[in-house]
Amino acid sequence: MTPLFLITGGTGTLGRHVLPLLEGAGHLRVLTRRPPPAALTGVETTTGDRAALTGAKHVTGDPSGLTGAKHVPADPSALTGAKHVPGDPSGLAGVEYVTGDLATGAGVEQASRDVTTVLHLAGGSSGDVDKARTLVRALAPGTHVVFISVVGADRVPVVSRTDRAMFGYFADQLAAERVIAESGLPWTTLRATQFHDLTLLVARQMAKLPVIPVPAGVRFQPVDAGLVAARLVELALGAPAGLVEDVAGPRVEGMDALLRAYLKKTGQRRLLVPMRLGGRAYAAIRAGGNLAASPGTGLTWDGFLGSATALPGDKP
Ligand SMILES: NC(=O)c1ccc[n+]([C@@H]2O[C@H](COP(=O)([O-])OP(=O)(O)OC[C@H]3O[C@@H](n4cnc5c(N)ncnc54)[C@H](OP(=O)(O)O)[C@@H]3O)[C@@H](O)[C@H]2O)c1
Repeated sequence: MTPLFLITGGTGTLGRHVLPLLEGAGHLRVLTRRPPPAALTGVETTTGDRAALTGAKHVTGDPSGLTGAKHVPADPSALTGAKHVPGDPSGLAGVEYVTGDLATGAGVEQASRDVTTVLHLAGGSSGDVDKARTLVRALAPGTHVVFISVVGADRVPVVSRTDRAMFGYFADQLAAERVIAESGLPWTTLRATQFHDLTLLVARQMAKLPVIPVPAGVRFQPVDAGLVAARLVELALGAPAGLVEDVAGPRVEGMDALLRAYLKKTGQRRLLVPMRLGGRAYAAIRAGGNLAASPGTGLTWDGFLGSATALPGDKP
């Protein structure tokens, strides 16, 4: 039987790295809240026939595309006919996009039909525990769930309101891990440190301030998302392995140093002011709870900034 991979979060930073690495391993189905890519890019307006572009039964009468149900082929064999969609963000052949929402459950059962392995990479700033619950409920017994979590999920205690406000993400990831581990499904969980892309996003946001408050003593070990994707694909092609060894970047650096490197690279000058926070989560982070036990590999933050041909939107 040809494996059928469901990739939640396949349109995200990590997911976009995963898709080409999985190409040829089986059918690939991406769950997204958005309409199919052809609809997003407007390609169908030039041909008038979106179904012909996708090779699958993606046509929907719902321009928002958010209801989901109609985007899933009734017969997974229809997937084999899927063609590269011009303007498809994956740029790959044979990737089927289905519309659904793990927060509401819309389209999730249909998206899960006949799936043999799920790479669960969908996440956001809130609601990830419920998303995991919705997903595992929809999967058939025996489906291998490969989940991406965060290094430190089990070491950063989120107790007080301050903990939650600043570092609630760690507790949510741990709770989502547990949903998967206790689902009765075979599972593999990989914890990763922060991706360079996220570090860049944060640096850009912070650089909008004339004076930047930086939590004192906070260090990160940013990692190349491509490296994380490669490890996830390896795990998805293997047997369920439970909680596996963390994946992390090669260098631990203070948040102030990461920011300074970004500011230097983009020719910006800002005053950085160290700020102490309260709470047990902050204390755990200061103690390195968000760092991997050993240095990883791949691009350093400097290397990432250097390899970015342009840092669009970054004003000197
Ligand atoms: N970024 C990091 O540094 C880091 C580190 C460790 C672990 N992780 C974990 O890795 C995962 C991926 O991170 P990322 O940086 O690639 O995220 P991202 O770029 O923000 O992408 C988020 C993805 O989640 C999907 N998604 C969000 N809410 C959804 C919902 N309700 N239903 C269906 N899909 C939904 C989005 O799909 P659509 O918008 O197309 O619907 C998108 O593909 C996250 O779970 C995150 O917790 C991230």
